[in-house]
Amino acid sequence: MRVVLLGPPGAGKGTQAATMVEKYHIAHISTGDLLRAAVKEGTPLGLEAKGYMESGQLVPDSLILGLVEERIQKEDCQEGFLLDGFPRTPAQADALGEMLNKLNQALDAVINIQVPMDKLMARLTGRRVCKSCGATFHNVFNPSAKGDFCDKCGAELYQRADDTEETVKARLDVYEQQTAPLISYYAEKGLLKDINGDQDIKKVDEDIARALGGK
Ligand code: AP5
Ligand code: MG
Ligand code: ZN
Repeated sequence: MRVVLLGPPGAGKGTQAATMVEKYHIAHISTGDLLRAAVKEGTPLGLEAKGYMESGQLVPDSLILGLVEERIQKEDCQEGFLLDGFPRTPAQADALGEMLNKLNQALDAVINIQVPMDKLMARLTGRRVCKSCGATFHNVFNPSAKGDFCDKCGAELYQRADDTEETVKARLDVYEQQTAPLISYYAEKGLLKDINGDQDIKKVDEDIARALGGK
């Protein structure tokens, strides 16, 4: 199964991806996670990407497209993959279409997680992420049973550098202007499945499973 998870910052893409990859045995490809790992390691890609990420802007396609093309050809993507945070512009979506054509592959669905824009700020500024396993929590909506530590592995939780109020505002603007056009892009291709993301995490998961039914 080859699926794209679409939705604004804070919609719950990463949260839902964590359960979906276990359920469907497919690879989770988060361009945000790949970039954050590169920033942490201080690779040339990370050094170039850092400024864009911290200001909430998109990293240039010249850095992103090669990263994705290499990743989707890895062994663990043979059974399928879940793209989270990519594509983010119509140009990236065109490039993805070309990459998949070359591999004789096609997308099965695009899951569009919808959450009212005015709820996203609180979701993002309250988010906490595990330093070790990457599990995602929220200090009000989805707290760890161990407070400031991960209840899955015990490591410390941290706040993403781009989860400040100012950067979230920029990210939401970038979404509206550059990423939201993908909703009609994929609707026209008959791939779009709208999901109400403004409900319990478990309910969202059930609705996604239903939308992908039989796949
Ligand atoms: P990226 O890492 O992709 O961030 P994003 O798209 O802004 O999305 P988030 O990860 O912030 O949100 P999410 O939808 O995963 O929500 P989550 O599940 O964590 O990108 C970061 C940056 O990298 C970009 O700004 C850009 O610079 C660069 N980049 C990445 N990809 C790129 C690309 N393709 N091209 C160019 N640049 C790129 O949930 C959020 C919070 O809400 C959590 O606290 C969670 O616990 C809580 N929550 C989740 N679901 C619910 C629910 N149902 N109810 C209540 N709370 C919930
Ligand atoms: Mg995410
Ligand atoms: Zn952890």
